[in-house]
Amino acid sequence: MLRRVLGNDEAAMKRVFEAGGADALRILDIACGDCREADALGDAFSEMKAEQSPEGEKPLDIQLTGIDVRAREIADAKRRFGGKREDARTGAKREAEFLTGDASKLDQHKQLGDGTEFDVVFMRHQNYWNGDRTWEEIFDQALNKVDSEGRLVITSYFDKEHQLALDAIQKLGGELIVTERNEESRALKDAPGKSVDRHVAVFRKKD
Ligand SMILES: C[S@@+](CC[C@H](N)C(=O)[O-])C[C@H]1O[C@@H](n2cnc3c(N)ncnc32)[C@H](O)[C@@H]1O
Repeated sequence: MLRRVLGNDEAAMKRVFEAGGADALRILDIACGDCREADALGDAFSEMKAEQSPEGEKPLDIQLTGIDVRAREIADAKRRFGGKREDARTGAKREAEFLTGDASKLDQHKQLGDGTEFDVVFMRHQNYWNGDRTWEEIFDQALNKVDSEGRLVITSYFDKEHQLALDAIQKLGGELIVTERNEESRALKDAPGKSVDRHVAVFRKKD
C-alpha cells in the first residue's frame, strides 16, 4: 500500500533516489510503539529504489529512528529491530535506533538534533481521537522534522479520525498530496469500522 501511494508521488520518489546516492534515507517513526512496521517500512523504500534503478546501482540504505512515550514498547522495538543489519537480498544496510520520549516535544529531544532532518516522517495509526491537543502538538513537531523535500506519511484506523488528522495537519502547514483508502486493510476484531492502516495519507510541507 505504502509503495503504491508513494510510487504515485514522483517528487517523493526523486527524493528517495537522491537520498540513495547520499548516506542513507532518514526515516523518523513517531509514536512507533514496538515498531512492528520497522521491516516493512525499510523494505518498501529499498524495493522501490531497487525496482527503478539500473542493475548494479548502490542499494538504498535506511537510517530509522523510532520514538514513543512508552518505555516498554521501545525496549521491545530495540530488542527486535534495533542496531545494524543488512538485507541479504538487496544488500541494503539498515540501522535503527529507538528512543523513549514525548513526541509533542521533539524539539527538546537532543538525540534528534536541531532543525529538519528527515526525508520521511511516519506516523502509523496516529491517535488524534484520544487527545486532539496532544496530537496537534505531535503533528506540528512532526512537520518541523520533515526536510523541505521530504514527506510526512500517516495512517489511521478509522474514517472520522483520519479526516480530523487531515484537517489538523493541513491547518498546521502540511500540504496534502494524496490520501487513499486501503482496500487490503484488515478489520480489527470487535471494533466495527476500524481496520489496520485503513487510510494512508502523504503530505509535504507548504513553502
Ligand atoms: C495507536 S498506537 C500506534 C502504535 C504503532 N505506531 C502501531 O501502529 O502499532 C499510538 C501510539 O502513540 C503513542 N503516543 C501517545 N502519545 C504520545 C506522545 N506524546 N509521544 C510519543 N508517543 C505517544 C502511544 O504510546 C502509542 O504507542
